[in-house]
Amino acid sequence: MFKSMKQVKYLNFPVIPDHLRDMAINKISKNPDSRIVKSNENYKWTIVKDNELEQWLVTNISPSLFWGLQIITGDMRIHSDNPTTVKICYLFELGGDNVITEFYHNDQIIDSIKIDHDRWHILNVMINHSVRGVESGKTRISLTGRIFEKL
Ligand SMILES: [Fe+2]
Repeated sequence: MFKSMKQVKYLNFPVIPDHLRDMAINKISKNPDSRIVKSNENYKWTIVKDNELEQWLVTNISPSLFWGLQIITGDMRIHSDNPTTVKICYLFELGGDNVITEFYHNDQIIDSIKIDHDRWHILNVMINHSVRGVESGKTRISLTGRIFEKL
């Protein structure tokens, strides 16, 4: 039987100022390969460090998280983010009007959500999840705070 279990929780953390958001997006569109630390077909990860956005995050969110930007240009197959268990995220761009994040337990969908942009949330990435509906030519940009350093 379908049992819904919320895997995304919104947080009332402060909204990121427009100029920082725009700076981050502009930097990605101008130089998409700068500071890429991880990438595959439709997924890239850049670090956010030593810039104004990081300073704002340190002051307003937490001085001890590990920040990055995830740039997604297509659907993400079912995966878990092992060894990362939870992430604190904030979507600058959705990548389309109907992008759905789904969570699975034993191949059964237990949560399905269209996450809002410009809203802090906690994501359970320990369990299997997927992202679908990213429109071609569009980019989903997520600012992501890892809570713990990878071992
Ligand atoms: Fe993931």
